[in-house]
Amino acid sequence: MKKFQIAAIPGDGIGKEVVPAAIDILEAVSDLHGGLSFEFTDFPYSCEYYLEHGVMMPDDGVERLKDFDSIFLGAVGNIKLVPDHVSLWGLLIKLRREFEQVINIRPAKIIRGIKSPLVNPKDFDLIVVRENSEGEYSEVGGRIFRGEDEISIQNNIFSRKGTERAMRYAFDLASKRKKHVTSATKSNGIVHTMPFWDEVFEDVAKEYPDIQTDSQHIDALAAFFVTRPEKFDVIVGSNLFGDILTDIGAAIMGSVGIAPAANINVNGKYPSMFEPVHGSAPDIIGKGIANPIGQIWTAKMMLDHMGEEEIGTVLLDVVESVTNDGIITPDIGGKYTTQEVTAEIINRLKAKA
Ligand code: NAD
Ligand code: IPM
Ligand code: MN
Repeated sequence: MKKFQIAAIPGDGIGKEVVPAAIDILEAVSDLHGGLSFEFTDFPYSCEYYLEHGVMMPDDGVERLKDFDSIFLGAVGNIKLVPDHVSLWGLLIKLRREFEQVINIRPAKIIRGIKSPLVNPKDFDLIVVRENSEGEYSEVGGRIFRGEDEISIQNNIFSRKGTERAMRYAFDLASKRKKHVTSATKSNGIVHTMPFWDEVFEDVAKEYPDIQTDSQHIDALAAFFVTRPEKFDVIVGSNLFGDILTDIGAAIMGSVGIAPAANINVNGKYPSMFEPVHGSAPDIIGKGIANPIGQIWTAKMMLDHMGEEEIGTVLLDVVESVTNDGIITPDIGGKYTTQEVTAEIINRLKAKA
């Protein structure tokens, strides 16, 4: 019997609604698959935790989490309680960095029964590899002076090592898919970093002669995600470009509520962390209508990462059978609640047992 130790951090807002739903699903998955079980340990790290303790997680938080097989996170952020830059640097970004989760993978594809807002969507199936530790999200910079002379500076940092690592990850992934990598660049407008990015891309591409490549400026690429997403296979982008592109990827699937993500620790030293693309959705907290599919599909990515691809595929197939029957939440045009969608997925998983 394989038992996975999972640290669950529901976090803020709808994270507290969709993480328990996805955990119920994972329990049903383990019942379906006799040889597999999960032990979940809950961690209350969140903005409410901050109000009580003055920190987003305790000093030994990283130590407490480091031996888990995976971290399963909902969302972080509640600006009514704590400014975003405090909560995010104190928890989400801190975990990504401490655990060297240097790659963020975010797929987008047509899901049966979920209507894309595109008028004539072709059957796209793409995956964004987002550099997850540097680029525009550097810690170098700050605010200087006050008043009318105030200046705010953010230095973008692109290391050769970090850039190559993200690109190699993308090429390796493309070798198992349609063998095409698109680089998200902006070498026409952002001096220094993007011509460097292009140079590294060309160097890495030479190591993969059987992979086709192209390079698109991020502004045009954002538009192509809307006008011809079916032309893409793997897209590699910097931290910020990858962030923005993946909300577009989510939108063309039908909702940011269904898009999954995985923060990957590539050196195997620390746990990887699985959290959907969406945030804490302050406008729908407590209404019971948060779409659980982003978190559930994220659970599938966690299963894949832990070597359980077969059961992950069964899970996504069951999810698609439910969406295909119109049992969906309001963000994608349905009338069902988080609970009802979750219960139906569980029923259908049980029926397979
Ligand atoms: P958001 O993703 O929380 O919400 C954007 C829109 O999408 C809202 O209308 C929301 O209701 C809707 N939405 C999101 N998830 C949904 C779901 N599962 N079902 C149905 N509708 C859903 O983005 P935002 O408003 O920019 O951010 C809100 C807070 O979340 C901020 O504090 C932000 O910093 C934080 N955030 C955290 C993460 C994370 O922890 N990974 C990611 C993004 C944003
Ligand atoms: C995401 C989020 C985060 C990011 C924020 C909340 C810091 O938007 O995971 O997509 O920009 O990485
Ligand atoms: Mn984002």
